[in-house]
Amino acid sequence: MIDVAREKYQCPNVVYEVADVVNFVETFPNWKGAFDKVVSVFALHWVKDCRRAFQNIYDCLRPGGECFLLYVGPMNQILGHSEDELPYYLKNISKWKEHLKDYDNKVYCPISIEDSIRFLESVGFEVITANLHKPCDELDLHKDQIKDYLRTLLGHLNYLPEQYQEFLQDATDWCNQNFPVNQRGNQYMRLEVMMLQAKKN
Ligand SMILES: C[S@@+](CC[C@H](N)C(=O)[O-])C[C@H]1O[C@@H](n2cnc3c(N)ncnc32)[C@H](O)[C@@H]1O
Repeated sequence: MIDVAREKYQCPNVVYEVADVVNFVETFPNWKGAFDKVVSVFALHWVKDCRRAFQNIYDCLRPGGECFLLYVGPMNQILGHSEDELPYYLKNISKWKEHLKDYDNKVYCPISIEDSIRFLESVGFEVITANLHKPCDELDLHKDQIKDYLRTLLGHLNYLPEQYQEFLQDATDWCNQNFPVNQRGNQYMRLEVMMLQAKKN
């Protein structure tokens, strides 16, 4: 993603860096207190320790600086952990169970909107807005988009190089059978999206 950005979207006042959200201020000490805004979109649910991420985001902002954070909440049919969610199904279906015994679903951050607010406040933020959208039926997919979408999301695929296509088809079939349909007639994921805006005073 970043290689593509560096190649295609060069801009004199834009720099692309790769860093871990839980410790980037350690990696780049000159980022401490350096930014007016932090924007994070669909990333924090991949992070095990959201509180550390919030602390790090706080540390890189100037006083008066703000962050806008959008991430997936605990309800997440496509990337979650419970029986009616895709990774659970894939890991437990007998056909794939043996192949996936070492696979660890790396989607975390099952924190509620209330805990998100509490964690942000505990590191020093003033929370300005906190909204929860569920389920997000406007985030829909045409039938022929689901497979490509899954290709980018399923870490399972690394464990199945030889059965890649068959596995992807099973996952796609599961989505076709289990995703609800919205008013436009498109399928969408049963998930909740959290949006928070917070200020460092
Ligand atoms: C679904 S992509 C979203 C990318 C982009 N924000 C967008 O909206 O198109 C999730 C991103 O989270 C990033 N990510 C996952 N864990 C991370 C971490 N610990 N620190 C920083 N970025 C992380 C991944 O590298 C990936 O680029």
